Amino acid sequence: MASCSLRALFDVMVYSIVIHFLAFQHFCADANSTLVVNASNNARNISNTFHGVFFEEINHAGAGGLWAELVSNRGFEAGGQSNIFDPWTIIGNESSISVSISRSSCFERNKAALLMEVYCGGHKPCPFGGVGISNPGYWGMNIEQGKWYKVVYHVKSEGMFDFQLSFSGVDVKKVSSNILHVYGHGKWKKVETILEAKATNHISSIQITTTRKGSYLLDQVSVMPPDTYMGHGFRKDLFQMVADLNPKFLRFPGGCYVEGDYLKDQFQWKDTFGPWEERPGHYDTWGYWSDDGFGFLEYLQLAEDLGAMPIWVFNAGISLHDEVNTSAIAPYVQDALDGIQFARGSSSSPWGSARAALGHPKPFDLRYVAVGNENCDQASYEGNYLYFYEAIRSAYPDIQIISNCDASNSPLSHPSDLFDFHIYTDSNNMFSKSTHFDHTSRLGPKAFVSEYAVWKTDAGNGSLLAAVSEAAFLIGLEKNSDIVEMVSYAPLFLNINDRRWVPDAIVFDSYQVYGTPSYWVQKLFIESSGATFLDSTLDTKSDKLIASAIIWQNSTDKQNYLRIKVVNFGTTTESLTILINGLNLNVKQYGSTKTVLASNNVMDENSFLEPNKVVPQTSSLVNADKDLNVILSPYSVTSLDLLI
Ligand code: AHR
Repeated sequence: MASCSLRALFDVMVYSIVIHFLAFQHFCADANSTLVVNASNNARNISNTFHGVFFEEINHAGAGGLWAELVSNRGFEAGGQSNIFDPWTIIGNESSISVSISRSSCFERNKAALLMEVYCGGHKPCPFGGVGISNPGYWGMNIEQGKWYKVVYHVKSEGMFDFQLSFSGVDVKKVSSNILHVYGHGKWKKVETILEAKATNHISSIQITTTRKGSYLLDQVSVMPPDTYMGHGFRKDLFQMVADLNPKFLRFPGGCYVEGDYLKDQFQWKDTFGPWEERPGHYDTWGYWSDDGFGFLEYLQLAEDLGAMPIWVFNAGISLHDEVNTSAIAPYVQDALDGIQFARGSSSSPWGSARAALGHPKPFDLRYVAVGNENCDQASYEGNYLYFYEAIRSAYPDIQIISNCDASNSPLSHPSDLFDFHIYTDSNNMFSKSTHFDHTSRLGPKAFVSEYAVWKTDAGNGSLLAAVSEAAFLIGLEKNSDIVEMVSYAPLFLNINDRRWVPDAIVFDSYQVYGTPSYWVQKLFIESSGATFLDSTLDTKSDKLIASAIIWQNSTDKQNYLRIKVVNFGTTTESLTILINGLNLNVKQYGSTKTVLASNNVMDENSFLEPNKVVPQTSSLVNADKDLNVILSPYSVTSLDLLI
């Protein structure tokens, strides 16, 4: 299992040397391997929820990522008890303005507000454009021509206030505002303004300025773009990248993020719902402030919007550096029960009614929960786990409970429906792990492989090499899909400006996004959920080939396909003969395709400049038949879809 303490490993990645050693050797291919697919015997169903995604608040995946809020540190809380308010900056010099943190906000659970003393504007006019503050968001706000942005802030002043709002580098038109040139009367006021951008700037900042002398308190400043997914607050391009993976489940919100460095830093679901202004926010394990705009309800909504089952990982009374003794675990257990009720209780139940009051009376489809993350070795885990298990089983007998303890080699000493399995390793080992579950007992709980990835040298920032061996691992999981119920990759997202953990599936900045080769491998496997797995035998002298076969139905054209996936993890081109036995239907020549993921160099990666350098290429399969031959490039993943 990986450890959260390894999170800074990317700093020491030196992988370019390896490229030379791994350069391909192209040899002529002999017809040296044969795959016999048996379509009549031993077919079995793969779980409907086989492929999903793992969303962790890491690398600014949510705050500054999928959650579309553009202001960073919107409540001025990120500095804790200090007087620091990064990334806000001051516009004006000390003779015209001073700014400090005041703990006098109207919001009880987040008391920090910004005190802005403006000295100019009386007898001494303010500089042109005024003085005030500016926020660059998360490494620049993507402000786009023609779009409307909703700006909200809370302000308190004795006298009149008339703040000007602007985006740097962008002309704006004020479309509407609920407040103009009013007296504050010493009371907090919420101001909402809609601004239309007259130009595009991908790295803009919001500026709040004034030319009026006075003392102002400012708090909870938000800028939301108008076009989030279904108005639910998710950045559309990033949402679409996830939706394209057609995930059947969403594991959230971490990872180590669930645990926190200390228990006080854990993700506390009860602090993350309700009006965004009132959420306290918290420091997360990955070294940055989460304002928790992306809270428990938003995670559940994300799963629903994706058509994926939510899998909630909750804290097991254990953080990275402290833990609760089992004798004191009761409040944690109650918190988990309350969270389950919030998610799926009827709208007349105490917590279900809180959800309903927030606009979602329909219960969410929560059927799986995980007790902790990577906590099996901790002293209090098993004791704590049993309390959670018994309470949840008795209140919600249908909920599937996931243990952190690995049962792939030996049985668990406690009851559970599934066990969590994580693997971060090098590419050779990942390839060899394709047989890991071959010998797992079929009598125990099923496996949830919820984090897997090749990392460090072999992965770089997301290489073909990593992706090919991960494809081999996934084929191994398909072969063992009688015991492996669900699988998801390492973290979904990386904001390129805050690389806390590599590898990740989707890389983005304020306005661009691309998938790593590992993302594209996942896309090649999404049809396996709910497919029929076929028995097959590979006869080969190569120890670098692995293959599997499924029958799946395309939901768009409603046609059935026999899909064969083959990984060549070797340095040489291979020739593979495929024989399909026991298939009553004919393979149709027209409509069958071949998709290949390969590249010129194993260490090739995608990037903003070349987002499609390593992506699958699909072509017609002209020789489609029950008996065919296919050439496999070195370090490649090949997927044949035979229309039947
Ligand atoms: O995926 C990054 C981290 O790796 C997760 O937070 C943790 O579960 C694993 O160690």
